[in-house]
Amino acid sequence: MKFRTIKGTKDILPEETAGWQNVESVIRRVMRNFNYQEIRTPTFEQTGLFARSIGELTDIVSKEMYTFLDRSEESITLRPEGTAATLRAYIQNNLGEQSPLTKVYYIGPMFRQERPQAGRLRQFHQFGAEALGASSPQLDVEMMVLPLEIYKQLGIDHFSLKINSVGCEKCRPAYKQLLQTELRKIFTQLSHDSQVRVEQNPLRVLDSKDKKDRELTAGMPLMNEHLCEECTVHFASVRSLLDALNIPYEVDGRLVRGLDYYTKTAFEITSTALGSQDALAGGGRYDLLVEELGGKQTPGVGFAAGIERLLIVLSKLNENKIASSAPVIFFVGLDETARIWTFLKTNELRRQGTCAEVDYLGRSVKSQMREANRQQAQYVIVVGEQELKTKTAKLKNMHTGEETAVSLEKIEIPS
Ligand code: HAM
Repeated sequence: MKFRTIKGTKDILPEETAGWQNVESVIRRVMRNFNYQEIRTPTFEQTGLFARSIGELTDIVSKEMYTFLDRSEESITLRPEGTAATLRAYIQNNLGEQSPLTKVYYIGPMFRQERPQAGRLRQFHQFGAEALGASSPQLDVEMMVLPLEIYKQLGIDHFSLKINSVGCEKCRPAYKQLLQTELRKIFTQLSHDSQVRVEQNPLRVLDSKDKKDRELTAGMPLMNEHLCEECTVHFASVRSLLDALNIPYEVDGRLVRGLDYYTKTAFEITSTALGSQDALAGGGRYDLLVEELGGKQTPGVGFAAGIERLLIVLSKLNENKIASSAPVIFFVGLDETARIWTFLKTNELRRQGTCAEVDYLGRSVKSQMREANRQQAQYVIVVGEQELKTKTAKLKNMHTGEETAVSLEKIEIPS
């Protein structure tokens, strides 16, 4: 019986990992420049943490979580996102007491049992950041600038940034009622999913992907037209900071996002290089969430971005050109003594920091040369009895074919 990956999961094969590592190193470098420190939380948590934060009625919690009872009958869930666990760690470890503002980032796998399609997996990877302790709109904008800077450094400059304000506990309840009244008038014409949402989560009806729902709700009142004074000022500040930074954006009054914890700012970054799953990143402010999870009242804001989707965009743009991981030197041994000598020399060079390789399969000289070619080695050194006696050999540049003499005691590679 042959085992296969579970639907919606993927192997990241050796030929792909260099691309992943390049993306991860750009993420880490930009996070460092923005003064974010890495946090690593477990991949599974108590189910209640996600239900409480993301919202019982969201698609993620009601349909997509990998939830199971462990052997001690505790309900465990594979994390569907990184925010809830980061906040749990922040509260549990009293990070707020160490500093008034905590800025952390994460990179890692997330799990959602969605219908797999291009750009949508069941185990996928996100990078993201959370800033806890400040309500300044500057941080909302920082959370948009961060992924955009990462995309820019990777060579992507075509994206669209959509922003909205989803209000707060002061202005949202009245708006919700107003919207519900309007939605009830067209209830029977709405899609089944939207009908369910009218009573439970009416804002998400505006976010429906169903074409007819969108037409029916075209003229509906929008949250950002019914903000309280505080939310209005905050949203205006976010917009003027984006303007000052010359970052193009669109205000989308229908943008609600699929997680319930947002207050004030919500945003999404999309790319036309992606198909229907076009969201590269999303985030927003969540000023009530720390308290909701049992911590002190602490404002927070963050974002998360899909790495697989980013790699799709990079491959469409033919970006993510990465430095070759091919060996610098490939030794070809002509006889048993030379094979042992080349093996020992390879180890010495590796310890000195040079990527060196040797044949382990007892192949013929011709096959060893072919292997050096296949691995795209930069140089080949053929070693036999003669070379060992004179302690010199030929260093062959595999790109130009040029051969130069090299001392076997001190192998120097042309720079
Ligand atoms: P989210 O919008 O659910 O937000 O996910 C963020 C990004 O993760 C998406 O824009 C997408 O690129 C990627 N993603 C989501 N689901 C999948 C999937 N099934 N397959 C592939 N990629 C996927 C959050 O997760 C929030 N925690 C963001 C946040 C952080 N808000 C505040 N702080």
